[in-house]
Amino acid sequence: MYTGFYHTHKLAVLLFVLLYLIKTVLLVANQHAALEKLKKFTRIPEMVISGLFLLTGGYLLVKSAEISTLQIIKLVLVFSAIPVAIIGFKKNNKILAVVSLLLITGAYGLAEINKKRAGKIAIPEASLPAEAQNPAAGEEPQAYVAVGKIVYEQACISCHGKNGDACLAGAKNLQVSKLDDAGKIAIIRNGKNTMPAFKNLTDTQVEALVAYVNTLKDRLNK
Ligand code: HEC
Repeated sequence: MYTGFYHTHKLAVLLFVLLYLIKTVLLVANQHAALEKLKKFTRIPEMVISGLFLLTGGYLLVKSAEISTLQIIKLVLVFSAIPVAIIGFKKNNKILAVVSLLLITGAYGLAEINKKRAGKIAIPEASLPAEAQNPAAGEEPQAYVAVGKIVYEQACISCHGKNGDACLAGAKNLQVSKLDDAGKIAIIRNGKNTMPAFKNLTDTQVEALVAYVNTLKDRLNK
């Protein structure tokens, strides 16, 4: 369900930006006849796209893990772009049209930056308690679980929750995950849909995360 809304939202945003890009180019290039034709031709599709854009965006917002400052700026950009675009194209005002396009593109860029940034989290080994730093291979699995818990609380809890079953922002319930360890490592490293790719965690931290995530199934129905 969430994934469907997420992809529909991305598609609607893309179509919306594309349509406004073409309209703005026509306006700026003084192609008034072509612009009027396009406006007429896209009147209904544009209503559908904008409707989907706002509807899916609202759903994603309600389901989101936490609303960051970047997300608030994004919303402000989107909601200021709309009236500017409407007035701009009604009055055929080039400056307003370009401004609205910049606002909407900026909002899209911020959303992408937000996701990249979420995956950039790096946890310096030195910040971990001494006994949890670099548990050597073959050492007590408990040491891995301890490191995993610390990393999990910093990087994963916002979507998966303390017990792994929060399922915010479209996240899957980790208590019932059927993925094997390699599958878990792959999704942590590469991300999927709204899950960011965690590129900066060390191999030890990722392995420790998997060890910790594997303990979450013990909390099922507790
Ligand atoms: C921004 C939200 C978000 C954060 C933060 C996040 N995840 Fe996820 N996670 C997701 C989403 C969404 C999915 C489902 C992806 C899909 O299959 O569409 C997921 C899926 C997973 C899965 C696969 C579950 C399954 O059975 O398919 C694992 C394992 C996982 N996450 C581990 C982690 C770990 C470990 C962290 C911290 C390093 C983390 N996640 C941080 C959103 C998040």
